[in-house]
Amino acid sequence: MKKYLVIGNPIKHSLSPKLHNYWIKQNNIDAIYEKKNITEKELESVITNIRDEKIHGINVTVPYKQKIISFLDNVTPLAEEARSVNTIYKENNNIIGDNTDITGFDLAIRNSNYELKNKKIFILGAGGVSPSIIVALRKNGVSKIILGNRTREKAEYLKKQYPEIEIVNWGETHKADLIINATSLGLKKEDKIELNYSEIGPNKLFYDVIYNPKQTNFLLEASKFGNKILNGKMMFIYQAHRAFFKWHNILPKIDENVINLLDQ
Ligand code: ATR
Repeated sequence: MKKYLVIGNPIKHSLSPKLHNYWIKQNNIDAIYEKKNITEKELESVITNIRDEKIHGINVTVPYKQKIISFLDNVTPLAEEARSVNTIYKENNNIIGDNTDITGFDLAIRNSNYELKNKKIFILGAGGVSPSIIVALRKNGVSKIILGNRTREKAEYLKKQYPEIEIVNWGETHKADLIINATSLGLKKEDKIELNYSEIGPNKLFYDVIYNPKQTNFLLEASKFGNKILNGKMMFIYQAHRAFFKWHNILPKIDENVINLLDQ
């Protein structure tokens, strides 16, 4: 039986096992997908387990998407561009790191019928998911990306990687066509993001990477002002879908059952 893992810290709330095991069963694959909370010191031994084929694939989540890279033999061009790896596998005796978050975000936005070309984007947050979103936005020819983060140095660090982005102060409101919450603010029901929603809306798209809760206060407020809203659920499903294909060479179904599976 092949073994797959999602690693991170914290990992308790990850829904990746639920989704992957559903597809594994649906496709009669002899495999299991588990979650493992690990410390930074354990990263190397996890990769050794892939080398020894004790583990056949790994998803990586917060806070290790960058830190894992130094233990790999190679990364794909997308992972290189985002300097962020969320999917790992062994290929021709090399341990490869890939990034399926970029495609996950891209497909989620595309399938909502939103056209990114020439749009002005305002990103809140410079955490682990932000580089993947920036890479996806660049590929889609957006006209401008503004980014604000509570810890300004982290935003400045991103600007070194992507010089075209403009860094703004955390707490400032900026007009944009698409406003993205890429922070963890919203995971708790009471979390609020200080934004002047009336200055931005109506008829803009507000996107939240968070999908649990389904509607963060960020999305709730935005919809009150007549904006379109979208949570991170489809991005999560599409990133998993690509990882699944990479590991099993099967494109699993994304249907109502899969979508409902994630509504705990
Ligand atoms: P990491 O800190 O490892 O990057 P993450 O979950 O990938 O973790 O990112 C968390 C994001 O949410 C960061 O942008 C973080 O801002 P800081 O860089 O200033 O930490 C943001 N965030 C978390 N809690 C926040 C809060 N209470 N107010 C504003 N931003 C917050």
